[in-house]
Amino acid sequence: MTAGESDWVPPGVDTRRANIARVYDYLLGGSHNFLADQDVGRALAAVEPAVRAIARANRAFLGRAVRFVSDAGIRQFLDIGSGIPTGDNVHEVAQRADRGSRVVYADIDPVAIAHSRTILAGRQNAAIIKADLREPEKILHHADTRRLIDFGRPAGLLLVSVLHYIADADNPRGIMATLRDALAPGSYLVLCHGTAEGQPTVVKAVGKVFNRNVATQSHARSRAEIMRLFGDFELVDPGLVHLPLWRPDSPADVPSDPSTFWCLAGVARKP
Ligand SMILES: C[S@@+](CC[C@H](N)C(=O)[O-])C[C@H]1O[C@@H](n2cnc3c(N)ncnc32)[C@H](O)[C@@H]1O
Repeated sequence: MTAGESDWVPPGVDTRRANIARVYDYLLGGSHNFLADQDVGRALAAVEPAVRAIARANRAFLGRAVRFVSDAGIRQFLDIGSGIPTGDNVHEVAQRADRGSRVVYADIDPVAIAHSRTILAGRQNAAIIKADLREPEKILHHADTRRLIDFGRPAGLLLVSVLHYIADADNPRGIMATLRDALAPGSYLVLCHGTAEGQPTVVKAVGKVFNRNVATQSHARSRAEIMRLFGDFELVDPGLVHLPLWRPDSPADVPSDPSTFWCLAGVARKP
C-alpha cells in the first residue's frame, strides 16, 4: 500500500493502472477508484460527454431487469461481471421482491471481490466468487454457486456490460452456450452490450481511449452479433433495444435519440 491509499485495497492490486471495475465505479460516482481510474474516466468524458449518463443508465437497466425477472417469479440469480457494489445491488433489488431470493456474484476484479465480501458478510443468501467469465464451467461448478443456485429450477443469469470485455478469440458465443445450457426452462437471461451501431464515431473514440489505458480491451459488437448471444432464448418486449428504451420507469427517461446511449439491452426467457 502506498501513502494515502485506503486500507480496503487488497494486496497485489496495482492502483497506478486503471481497470474496468474501478473506472466504472468512478463514472457512477463511487469511491473505490484511484487517480489512474479517474484520469481514464475524465479522458472518456472528453470524447463522450454522456459517458457518466450511460454508466448510470446501464446501472438503472440492471435494476429494472432484476425487478422484471423477480416479478416473473425468479428467486435465484447468477450475476457475472457484477462489479464493485454500489447503489441498488442485485441482492438488494431481488430481496425487496422476496427476502429469500438468492444471489451469486462473480467477478474477476480483486477490488470488486473484496468490497462485495465486505457488504455480503454474514448473509446466507448471497455470495461473491472470484471467477473469469472465460471459464464458465468453473463458475457453474463453484461450491457457492452450487449451494445457492438450484439449476433444476429457473434462474436469472445476468451479464450486464461484461461481454464486451470478452474478445472473439475467447469465444463469447461458446461461453454463452455453456451458460445457457446450464439453465432450466423458464430461466431468464439479462444482457447489455456495447455497440457501435448508430454511433460509430464516438464509440470508436471511446474504444481508443479505453484500450490505450486499460489492460482489458473492449469489443463493441453489432446488433446481429449481440442477438446471437441469446441463442434460442425468446426476447421479452421490447426486445433488444438501446438502454433507455428497455421498459423505462418514466417516458421522461428516454432521450430524443436513444442510440446516443450506445449499449443494447435485452431480457430473454429460455423456452
Ligand atoms: C462495466 S462493469 C459492469 C458491472 C455490473 N454488471 C453493472 O452493470 O453495473 C464490468 C465488470 O465486468 C468485470 N469483468 C471484466 N472481464 C471479466 C471476466 N473475464 N470475468 C469476470 N468479470 C469480468 C469487471 O471486473 C467489472 O467489474
